[in-house]
Amino acid sequence: MTLPPVIAIDGPTASGKGTVASLVAEKLGFHYLDSGALYRLVALASQKQAIDPKNALELGVLAKKLVISFKNGQILLNSEDVTEAIRTEVIGLRASTIAVHPEVRRALVGVQQGFRTAPGLVADGRDMASVIFPDAVLKVFLTATAEARAERRYKQLIAKGISAKLSDLLQDLQERDARDSSRGAAPLLVADGAQVLETSELSVDQAVKTVLDWYQSKIS
Ligand code: C5P
Repeated sequence: MTLPPVIAIDGPTASGKGTVASLVAEKLGFHYLDSGALYRLVALASQKQAIDPKNALELGVLAKKLVISFKNGQILLNSEDVTEAIRTEVIGLRASTIAVHPEVRRALVGVQQGFRTAPGLVADGRDMASVIFPDAVLKVFLTATAEARAERRYKQLIAKGISAKLSDLLQDLQERDARDSSRGAAPLLVADGAQVLETSELSVDQAVKTVLDWYQSKIS
């Protein structure tokens, strides 16, 4: 039996991969997996339960037990709506801290692969192409300069009425890039066979179109 096709989109923090991946999924009528949300959910749950971010064993057990559901744009954790709560910078940083543990990563493999259902899946994260879906039809590494990413994040926060400082955001995302790239387990990297998409100078529409064109050329 052939498995439904996967488009894997990996990249650093605030590269715009979530926006691009969800629009590509919408255009193709595919399912969408925001794998970062899963790490954020573990981060939030571990914060609520006051689990030390260094305690790999306990975090792994917690990650296995979580009841997670994605419904109509809402994210539920043990049936509580945490859609907004997982998006804070604090939870993002905590997510990158707990994501270094192989125990946590292993616990989330099955959940992620479970999203691969017909007619297809667009999955975004750090290790979609290298670890979770190594047989993806198309592998994209979507990136932009740290300055361009910090500025995008800044504009998003200001638009939401959340106050932010550009220099703090830049520092936070450089910290997260360094941690995501240097960890031993599933580091952020350009996977074998991945096509790099530099989006500093591209609009969202241009980035989406490029991914769709690349996909068409893979399947035709
Ligand atoms: O993509 P997002 O910023 O929401 O992810 C939060 C954190 O979760 C990242 O900084 C990264 O450390 C971790 N993550 C990961 N592997 C993934 C997705 C996210 O390690 N596939």
